[in-house]
Amino acid sequence: MHEALQASFDISGRCAVVTGAASGIGRETARVLAKAGAHVVVSDIHADPLAETAAAVTGAGGRVLVHPADVARRDAVDALAQAALALTGRIDIWVNSAGVIVNVPIMEANEADVDRVIAVNQKGVYWGCAAAGRSMKTGGGGAIVNISSTGAESAVPGLSIYSQTKAAVNMITRTAAREFGAFGVRVNAVSPGWVDTPMGNHGFRDADGAINAERQEEGLRLRAQSSPLGITGTPRDIALAVLYLACDASRFVTGQILRPNGGVAMP
Ligand SMILES: NC(=O)c1ccc[n+]([C@@H]2O[C@H](COP(=O)([O-])OP(=O)(O)OC[C@H]3O[C@@H](n4cnc5c(N)ncnc54)[C@H](O)[C@@H]3O)[C@@H](O)[C@H]2O)c1
Repeated sequence: MHEALQASFDISGRCAVVTGAASGIGRETARVLAKAGAHVVVSDIHADPLAETAAAVTGAGGRVLVHPADVARRDAVDALAQAALALTGRIDIWVNSAGVIVNVPIMEANEADVDRVIAVNQKGVYWGCAAAGRSMKTGGGGAIVNISSTGAESAVPGLSIYSQTKAAVNMITRTAAREFGAFGVRVNAVSPGWVDTPMGNHGFRDADGAINAERQEEGLRLRAQSSPLGITGTPRDIALAVLYLACDASRFVTGQILRPNGGVAMP
């Protein structure tokens, strides 16, 4: 690749924070951002699997900081930003990937499920944008990438709680893009279709939590069939979309929802 072109995608020396980095899309995003040269702060509510992410990211060139945090708590998100600032003195990239899902019909939903999913998926992204925006404003700019979902724009029975939080993520993204733009801070969302992760496979599990191979095979077949490309997504497909929105190649892009979904949904 030509040097000038390569420079647009190079994030060497930049500091990136990734929430939900212990698994799936967050873990792969941390790895891709590190490979593109960033120092990476990996965060998740589950501390143990974060060590595995750190091992995958270490050696890519940049520094790595492991900082467990529950994004449902505003004070924990603020403390994450402080820890990241202590690492390199600035935050250039912040990826809100932490998320949870509940599958329940509206008439049967309970208050605890509604509160938990909103706290993690919606408030977690909101406070993440607030903390990242403040430090990027001080630092003179940056890029925030929120992980949304196809569910934000298409109704699926059983996913009402999850989908309403993802619709909120899209609107948080657009509003923050308007508020933060004057400070050189871009805010975008990546809205994946089905991706092969523990969350993606939640619908294929039996009551005991084990994956039902038959249901998974049928589910994957149907998902691939609904894509004009005939394929399903991997965490890497999403991580590369995040990289684009995090680097200078997307300097003219803000307030947008990028939809790597194999063409399953075309709004
Ligand atoms: N997999 C898919 O098909 C798919 C599709 C569209 C959108 N998404 C979105 O992508 C993002 C990543 O999902 P994934 O598929 O990698 O799922 P995943 O379950 O593999 O990873 C989610 C991570 O978030 C962490 N997490 C949960 N609650 C948290 C909290 N309170 N604080 C901090 N971390 C917390 C989990 O511990 C886990 O490591 C989510 O926002 C999800 O909604 C996933």
